Amino acid sequence: MPTYSMTDALRAADQAAQDIEAFLRARPETIRVTNVEADPAYQQMDVDLIWETQRATYKVEIKGDRLGHRTGNFFFETHSNRERGTPGCFLYSEADLLFYYFIETGKLYILPLPAARAWFLARQQDFEERATRTPIGKGVGEKSKTYTTVGRLVPVERVLKEIPEAWHARLAAPDARPFLKWAGGKRQLLPQIMAALPDGLATGKITQYVEPFVGSGAVFFRLNRQFSFSRIILADQNPQLIFAWRTIQGDVEALITRLAAMEQAYFALDPRGQRQYFYETRAAFNTGLDPAPAARTAQLIFLNRTCYNGLFRVNAGGQFNVPFGRYKNPTICDEANLRAASTALAGVELRHADFDQCRDAIDARTFVYLDPPYRPLSATASFNAYDKNGFDDAAQIRLAGFFREMDNRGARLMLSNSDPHNLSPDDHFFDDLYRGYRIQRVPASRNINSNPLKRGPITELLITNY
Ligand SMILES: C[S@@+](CC[C@H](N)C(=O)[O-])C[C@H]1O[C@@H](n2cnc3c(N)ncnc32)[C@H](O)[C@@H]1O
Repeated sequence: MPTYSMTDALRAADQAAQDIEAFLRARPETIRVTNVEADPAYQQMDVDLIWETQRATYKVEIKGDRLGHRTGNFFFETHSNRERGTPGCFLYSEADLLFYYFIETGKLYILPLPAARAWFLARQQDFEERATRTPIGKGVGEKSKTYTTVGRLVPVERVLKEIPEAWHARLAAPDARPFLKWAGGKRQLLPQIMAALPDGLATGKITQYVEPFVGSGAVFFRLNRQFSFSRIILADQNPQLIFAWRTIQGDVEALITRLAAMEQAYFALDPRGQRQYFYETRAAFNTGLDPAPAARTAQLIFLNRTCYNGLFRVNAGGQFNVPFGRYKNPTICDEANLRAASTALAGVELRHADFDQCRDAIDARTFVYLDPPYRPLSATASFNAYDKNGFDDAAQIRLAGFFREMDNRGARLMLSNSDPHNLSPDDHFFDDLYRGYRIQRVPASRNINSNPLKRGPITELLITNY
């Protein structure tokens, strides 16, 4: 049975109350928010806030949860102190609304309490029971006392589906960045992308996000920090890449342990030893002998951080073949960012798939960002060998067909690609393919070319259907 300290619980409650009060005060319909946590009359009813709006006044109970986001479950309390026989606040609270807040991810779910309780009581046997113990501290010479809280794990998705008045918002989000350097990574293009987003993101009309060519996820991490989605799908055709995303999502602590050990071993070596360590790791990665996900992903991140130009490239046989990079002090294990990335991935669907296999999820409430391998500006200039399948003009044409179909469904779409006009002003490949859509030419400095002379200012295409 897990044990949490009393201070943990109090800190979680404080943080939740602060974030939620700020959220409510900023809402246009709010007239007043009053914190009544210290008022004994409200304590008895288990009410924390009074929220007065233009439409009604609500009694609000707040629940701050530090851990549930990892499992995708609410914890609905049935006994708050089993030793004393006190029922769970979920059962007796007189609040109108339950504000259930996953503190680490900043996700807030607003549930109509009487309706959610009735729904739960009618089917509580469906849900797994859990107990947690909280120590209450001890007096001199006394044995430490604990009390036990009992509740059931109820899947968030099921509640949202079956209780239509439930809604959700994002209050604060983990400040995560890409955990890999990736050819074509969109960090540098983020300002232009952010300036061209569809309105529905800010108004809440768009509730789903799909990124079929996720790569290192620069755009996902940025959007996830600002907007709340009820469903997110990230996909890529590169199997090793999606494997790494899955490890970060589900096994981040084991990954950190492995990667920190590799970092330590690497920095203890002289330059010759480091080079040898790199090639040994590359060979181990390519033979795939270590099947543990954490070990394979640690190898991938290590290689990405220490290889030439921070690339991920495989040859025709699917083998990672980038040489050693000789960086002075590469950051190999960025623990805080790996944890933040894992938190950002809670509840996200990861698919190892061709872009076309994301179509099932796309509808009129979806924003889709498409960042395919760029069409080479000339036969040799560009890098697009992310995996052994490549992405040729026929694939670009297939993607334009997908874009048109998803446009017909009413989804909001944004696509980036290289601009053939940089080298050949008469090459209208994309202007023809995306005729009728909005095509912006935005300045970009790409740095995938290892020859600095070829890293001049160029434009890239941002194509949207809105
Ligand atoms: C330009 S990169 C995306 C970079 C990403 N926006 C970022 O910020 O890192 C293109 C990605 O498309 C993936 N890819 C290539 N062909 C694909 C296909 N047919 N379906 C889905 N993904 C594909 C590659 O593995 C690569 O990760």
